[in-house]
Amino acid sequence: MNWEEQRAVVTGAAYGIGREIVFSLAKRGCRVACLDIADDDNVRTAGRASELAGKQCRAYHCDIADPDGIDETFEKIFREFGGIDILINNAGVFSAMSFVGDTYEAALEDFHFNMDVNARGTFLCAKKAAPQMAKRGGGHVINVVTNHVKRYLFPPSDSEHSYDASKYAQLALNESLDCELKAYGIRVNAVCPAATRTPMLQSFFDSLGMEMTKETIGKCTGIPSLLEPDEVAEAVCSILEWDETQPTGRAMLLVHSEDCEKLKYGYVEELGR
Ligand SMILES: NC(=O)c1ccc[n+]([C@@H]2O[C@H](COP(=O)([O-])OP(=O)(O)OC[C@H]3O[C@@H](n4cnc5c(N)ncnc54)[C@H](O)[C@@H]3O)[C@@H](O)[C@H]2O)c1
Repeated sequence: MNWEEQRAVVTGAAYGIGREIVFSLAKRGCRVACLDIADDDNVRTAGRASELAGKQCRAYHCDIADPDGIDETFEKIFREFGGIDILINNAGVFSAMSFVGDTYEAALEDFHFNMDVNARGTFLCAKKAAPQMAKRGGGHVINVVTNHVKRYLFPPSDSEHSYDASKYAQLALNESLDCELKAYGIRVNAVCPAATRTPMLQSFFDSLGMEMTKETIGKCTGIPSLLEPDEVAEAVCSILEWDETQPTGRAMLLVHSEDCEKLKYGYVEELGR
């Protein structure tokens, strides 16, 4: 990977995992387009990324729940960056609902909230990026999914219906995108992080009135673990650095720091299951 030549789009770049992915890419010399709705934080991310990369990274206001906004933003990036080589579908939202307790309208709103960002956002960003990457002979897509799609270790909860449906849709897209795009030299993979110290997880624990610690996470998920967002970001960059002998269409489970570390050395079957 010649990082100095790479141009990346990262969605959800203002804070959390996305911001750390931006920094990990930038410190390798990659030029990054930062997409988010939290403009002030996003501008700060892009400013720091420019310092790390030694080249101009940019913040773009883009609500990935808005199809027209995605279309316009990607066209602008193609003009300003001359194309893109890497797409990181990271932006995500999370909310809980009850089939019994919520009104029909509230349930529908919850469903759209999660599906529009987590599933349709991934779908549409890939739709903008893929033809342009294919024309240039290749590229990379990484989808940030969740450990929830690894049911052999993480059973469902009674309230994460819309989030989980949207994340399974994103996982399905990871596989079908790979199926079409590998013929064009575009490598598609996903990471499935477990609990990671971000504002999203913090607000979940705030809503439960619980402290966010490995122990409390263990009580919720059965596995006491808490990743730092920069560990997930480094795992994403390790996958981007894999050569053509490494597989695509995989969804790598990240629970412990060692899982992120291991990916530096290539595919780990146990994590890709
Ligand atoms: N934190 C965790 O424990 C955890 C675990 C598994 C998966 N994930 C996934 O990782 C990804 C990042 O999560 P995080 O924990 O960093 O979340 P976060 O809420 O801390 O950050 C999400 C970022 O996405 C942005 N965003 C939200 N809606 C947007 C929209 N409509 N358009 C553009 N940007 C938008 C936010 O402004 C923010 O910058 C998500 O896809 C999430 O589902 C997180």
